[in-house]
Amino acid sequence: MDKNLLLFFFIFIAVECSKNLGKVCDLVTDDLLKQCYIRETLVSISHSPNQLAVNKNTNTVYFSFDSGQGEYIPAAVQIESKKVTVLKGVKDAFAVTNDPLIGEMYFGGSNGIYKYNPAQQTLKRLAVKNLDIWWLFFKKIIYFIRFPSLNAYSYHDRLVKPVTPLMNITVNQFVFDNDDNIFFINGTGLFGIKNGQSDIILLRESPRFLGMAANNKGHVYLCSENEIFVISKMIQKVKKIVNIPGVLGMAFDKDNNLIYSDSHEIVRLLPISNSYLKL
Ligand SMILES: *[C@@H]1O[C@H](CO)[C@@H](O)[C@H](O)[C@H]1NC(C)=O
Ligand SMILES: *[C@@H]1O[C@H](CO)[C@@H](O)[C@H](O)[C@H]1NC(C)=O
Repeated sequence: MDKNLLLFFFIFIAVECSKNLGKVCDLVTDDLLKQCYIRETLVSISHSPNQLAVNKNTNTVYFSFDSGQGEYIPAAVQIESKKVTVLKGVKDAFAVTNDPLIGEMYFGGSNGIYKYNPAQQTLKRLAVKNLDIWWLFFKKIIYFIRFPSLNAYSYHDRLVKPVTPLMNITVNQFVFDNDDNIFFINGTGLFGIKNGQSDIILLRESPRFLGMAANNKGHVYLCSENEIFVISKMIQKVKKIVNIPGVLGMAFDKDNNLIYSDSHEIVRLLPISNSYLKL
């Protein structure tokens, strides 16, 4: 399997589904508060469809864009100012995540994993050789999905270990929720593994989930071709919140507003009540 082939597939879906993207309440939601969202474009650029991450200290979204040389270059957009910065020194940043406590960013790609400290402006490559990274997730330590095996590992104290409950399983993306339950998606569907257990529970086979992210409270969000969902914790139910076609990546700003990317832009969704308060 080739990363670009998989990418092409995602982008094809995104473009097909973006055709009917008109004006959205911008967006009426099905969620509990019956809120309505305004779309705020942060940056218009085609970028890596896999991941976005927000440094909550500076409210800056990190993403990466295709250099045209088969490599993704990391960049950042500060949410309030919309100022875009391109980061130098990382060779390929297909995946990105952050340590919410320290505010350090991690970038992963065909040259392994880099750790970037925005406050000190230091960049370090983690000591793992021959690593091609598909997905990153940070929870106390750094977790990653290797390409092309799509198996999940952790890295800590210079040691790479398989994530035991996910051993030998094809995982497209995974996150932990607040209670350290694992949720993952692959070509078959959405699965959950309760903290400390090994039983893999199939939560949903359809729609086909393309992306996932945990918000600042550890609630797990998913996107499909046309919709965004949240897993409600109590009953482990997957609930649709909003119809947005073509979403590929998601992240949350410091106030827990949803940020998503499609094949050509990165957008923040602001609840309308908030925007009124700001006016
Ligand atoms: C994972 O695969 C390896 C190599 O095929 C095998 O030795 C090991 O027993 C497997 N582990 C699990 C938990 O399935
Ligand atoms: C997805 O994971 C489930 C649970 O381990 C597994 O049974 C299934 O084969 C996987 N699907 C793919 C496409 O690898």
